[in-house]
Amino acid sequence: MLAPTVELLRAAQAGGYALGAFNVYNLEGVKAVVAAAQDADSPVLLQIHPKALDYGGTPLIALCLAAAVNASVPVAVHLDHSTSRDAIQAALGAGVSSIMADGSHLDYNANVAFTAEMTRLAHEQGAAVEAELGKISGTEDGLTVAETAARMTDPAQAADFVAATGIDALAVCIGNVHGPYPGEPRLDFDRLDAIRAVVEVPLVLHGTSGLPDALVQRAVELGVCKFNVNTELRQAYVGALGAAAGDLLDILNRAVHAMQDVVRAKITLFGSARKLPTNPKNV
Ligand code: G3H
Ligand code: ZN
Repeated sequence: MLAPTVELLRAAQAGGYALGAFNVYNLEGVKAVVAAAQDADSPVLLQIHPKALDYGGTPLIALCLAAAVNASVPVAVHLDHSTSRDAIQAALGAGVSSIMADGSHLDYNANVAFTAEMTRLAHEQGAAVEAELGKISGTEDGLTVAETAARMTDPAQAADFVAATGIDALAVCIGNVHGPYPGEPRLDFDRLDAIRAVVEVPLVLHGTSGLPDALVQRAVELGVCKFNVNTELRQAYVGALGAAAGDLLDILNRAVHAMQDVVRAKITLFGSARKLPTNPKNV
């Protein structure tokens, strides 16, 4: 069933686990995420990067919403990393559960102003808002942020940013990177702990692909309630197609199963398996 993002995040926060938010680009990605979540009795987020939205348009949103409505588990649909008021308004109009107002490329005051305005728009339509304080480095869908341009989240600013914008979830930068990690991933857990101490809304970690399980588990312990995953899914998809031969549907199904394996492993790692309201142990 289509679920409000904020309810799934709040349940994760209360339950001490995290949701997987998986970037999808087509039917195969949507099928893989929903199938893995249903197999695991897990809530999940389907999320659409702006470049995927450029590619798939409102039909891609409609595909995600239809899959969510027909799913046997709670599924939210989220617009990821949007810097565009028009794209955010279009996605809200199409019925997404939540949006990421990404003002992280702006200076602090401009980020607050943009995010607060997008939050007003989203809340008017019953959708939730995630925003980023700091600036994650790395590459996603052709958008690269150099390490020199990256900024860690400042715990001293975090409480003011959440209060000034009214957001429902805060994406933090603690050493996480979009795409492949240039070296051994290192996350600043002292910084995460300091942010957690002053921010009440659920915390989000981007750049989950390539993070060792131990770092993910520590991040869950310190309050991360949503992990964004894209690169590992894309690699599974492209890898399955690369070996492709034979019937088209056999090829597509192999791609779905390859992505499904990634989603299944992440759901287990994040702890959201068997976390449904109907599960007796959760009542
Ligand atoms: O917003 C999407 C995620 O941050 C993707 O990060 O490709 O490193 O998993 P990732
Ligand atoms: Zn991201």
